[in-house]
Amino acid sequence: MACSDSDYEYLRGVVMEQSANQIDPSRNALFDTRLTSIARLSGAANLEDFVNMLKAGKPAHLHRAVAEAMTVNETSFFRDIAPFEMLREVIFPRLIEQRLEKRRLRIWSAASSTGQEAYSLAMSLAEYFPALAQWDVKIIGTDISRHVVDYAQRGRYRRVEVNRGLPARMLLKYLVREGEEWEVVPRIRSMCEFRYANLCAPMPQLPEFDLVMLRNVLLYFSQHDRRALFGEIYRKIIPGGYLVLGNAEQAEDSTNLFEVEFAANCYFYRPVYGS
Ligand SMILES: C[S@@+](CC[C@H](N)C(=O)[O-])C[C@H]1O[C@@H](n2cnc3c(N)ncnc32)[C@H](O)[C@@H]1O
Repeated sequence: MACSDSDYEYLRGVVMEQSANQIDPSRNALFDTRLTSIARLSGAANLEDFVNMLKAGKPAHLHRAVAEAMTVNETSFFRDIAPFEMLREVIFPRLIEQRLEKRRLRIWSAASSTGQEAYSLAMSLAEYFPALAQWDVKIIGTDISRHVVDYAQRGRYRRVEVNRGLPARMLLKYLVREGEEWEVVPRIRSMCEFRYANLCAPMPQLPEFDLVMLRNVLLYFSQHDRRALFGEIYRKIIPGGYLVLGNAEQAEDSTNLFEVEFAANCYFYRPVYGS
């Protein structure tokens, strides 16, 4: 399945409009593989035919499905490990001390994909800060792909997924085997919830957060969208709260909003006030 350059350009435009993800023309061939099954299910004979259906605007939900099919959902439990060690040594103890009175923590796993980041955070809190069992703690994962939001909510993982990054001790303590899959235990699941949200569009109802994890998604956005998103996140962080980015990412577009700190081998960010 292939189509003309102008059809690929149209598809890149659909993805940009729906998810703000920039797709480089050198990656046009990805449309061929990722859209094959949606095109067939929609009754299109080939990609060109499918693009014509999209152009005719019928049915509108197909535009969203195209953007969703083009998302990169790569993730794993305790991904990159260092940020989780830093959270355990630096950010979590600070937040717990600051919020002792309210006994409430809100954490946002923005672009949560299939949920491993959110569940890793919940497992870390349960494992290293058991007193939080008496607190009101919620980790909210959001993603633009409804498929991964449902997957995360289900809290069941295949062997290859639990074999990536999850220490055996944590696996046995916080997941139970269900046939060929492993299910996150109710205590950890009840700390997490997952919702659809487009980070580059007006946000749905979300609370304010003590900690925002925004990892491995900025690379898909334009500088303009990144800057707007940093502004949105700045407004969503409760004073005293933190922002953690992916290993290769920086808040370079918004240096007036955040100050950077380095501890336990990681960079992380705090909103700057009164500037
Ligand atoms: C590479 S995964 C990163 C997952 C996780 N944050 C991590 O670091 O392991 C990127 C995720 O961003 C989501 N995404 C892409 N564009 C988005 C947008 N505009 N709004 C919300 N989520 C988006 C994708 O669906 C995908 O699940």
